[in-house]
Amino acid sequence: MSIRRLHPKVDVRRSVTETEACRPQQQRSRDVSDNTLTVTDNRTGQRYDIPINEGTVRAMDFRQMKVSDDDFGLMVYDPAFTNTAACRSAITQIDGERGILEYRGYPIEELAEHSSFLEVAYLLLYGDMPGPQQMTGWIRDITFHTYVHENIKKFMEGFQYDAHPMGMLVGTVAALSTFYRDAKNVDDPVSREIQTHRLIAKMPTLAAFTYRHNRGLPYVYPDNDLSYTGNFLSMLWKMSEPQYKPDPALERAVDVLFILHADHEQNCSANAMRAVGSSRPDPFSSTAAAAAALYGPLHGGANEAVIRMLTEIGDKKHVLEFVKHVKAGEKRLMGFGHRVYKNYDPRARIIKQTADEVFSVTGRNPLLDIALELERIALEDDYFHDRKLYPNVDFYSGIIYQAMGFPVEMFPVLFAIPRTAGWLAQWREMIEDPEQKIARPRQVYVGAPRRSLGRRQGRKSGPRRAA
Ligand code: CMC
Repeated sequence: MSIRRLHPKVDVRRSVTETEACRPQQQRSRDVSDNTLTVTDNRTGQRYDIPINEGTVRAMDFRQMKVSDDDFGLMVYDPAFTNTAACRSAITQIDGERGILEYRGYPIEELAEHSSFLEVAYLLLYGDMPGPQQMTGWIRDITFHTYVHENIKKFMEGFQYDAHPMGMLVGTVAALSTFYRDAKNVDDPVSREIQTHRLIAKMPTLAAFTYRHNRGLPYVYPDNDLSYTGNFLSMLWKMSEPQYKPDPALERAVDVLFILHADHEQNCSANAMRAVGSSRPDPFSSTAAAAAALYGPLHGGANEAVIRMLTEIGDKKHVLEFVKHVKAGEKRLMGFGHRVYKNYDPRARIIKQTADEVFSVTGRNPLLDIALELERIALEDDYFHDRKLYPNVDFYSGIIYQAMGFPVEMFPVLFAIPRTAGWLAQWREMIEDPEQKIARPRQVYVGAPRRSLGRRQGRKSGPRRAA
């Protein structure tokens, strides 16, 4: 659909005060500021001044534009929310054109280099970096909740031996809501706080259990003497040793990956968290919905798809051929492109650096050479250049995870652990925002017009009796 230009007679210099906002123009005084949009409805000739605030116009301001009194009013149509802000948020900012990502104003590069994941989780949730005392309290709060009820363990044991770990995680996070009945009190800040601790603390435990389950290994209980990521590695890989000692390089690499994945403003899963949370279920249920959104190959499942793609390509010499298929629209270059980034994803750059540190411990993943060649060829090609398609966070993360020994099915699970902090920050902001209500988009109905069942109306309802 093409965009209609405003009629040239529109004078965009006119403006309105807040109280006069978006009344038809002839009803309003002319002492106006520049912060308005003047719209002429060519169906009626009526002109409207719409206030512009923070670079947005309110969709509800268009509802007054009617052709008759019984007209519903104009709606805006935006499938997939490509140009719709659904909230005001102070958590994460992305400048997609310049390839910038900031959490609470701090550049991702600085956080990845100079902070830990738990500090970043605190920052996302509470708005500032923790001081030493706050950090001690925060670590204590999270560590206290790392264990899960034994019945959760039994619940997980009930899954098929080869169940996809992400399916197990989604189901088990939802099941947690049945263990914490107080979590329903979403309007109580104290309850919100304790569920936040529980979710951040228990996600690594559940994630590690899914991994052990797939391997047929006994589940390993949390070791609360280790760091957040060190404990996670212990629950994954501890065997008969009395205490697991994580390799510091791997422990730090996982921590950096967790920082990079902690939040990404209004992405598909954050939107699911907010939309589901808006009907006020407990946060375990909302987090399960967010994790389900993350599961898909266009979101958190993309790094799994990248590994499958690189394996299918198999060798650097097949890269050109593969790219031809992508350009012909027969395949998609997984790990490339982003709804918001129209430049190199800053997370991909950091992950590329982290890869070398991981490979110094694990040995080089041979898929890296294919990925580097793919990136080189794609970045020189007009198809990708013209569409502003660059590597995103998922292009290199899977290569690292695979080198560390994770099966591809675990990749979205590894994404879900840190993203839980972001989901919870988004959820809490939504709950505390007086402007938010139950999320309920409109539709443009394109189905059958009103019709009648006609002759059937005389018949009794219910199943027909057999003759
Ligand atoms: N390979 C080939 N062509 C692509 C790709 C790709 N990965 N991504 C977009 N395009 C093309 C697309 O075909 C379209 O071309 P045309 O204009 O000729 O029809 C154009 O670029 C615009 O694409 P779009 O599908 O309208 O873009 P979108 O904003 O709806 O999709 C995306 C964003 C991330 C879903 C998409 O780029 C994609 O599928 N990428 C591969 C999957 C992936 O790596 N996902 C991880 C995203 S980052 C992690 C996260 O935040 O979840």
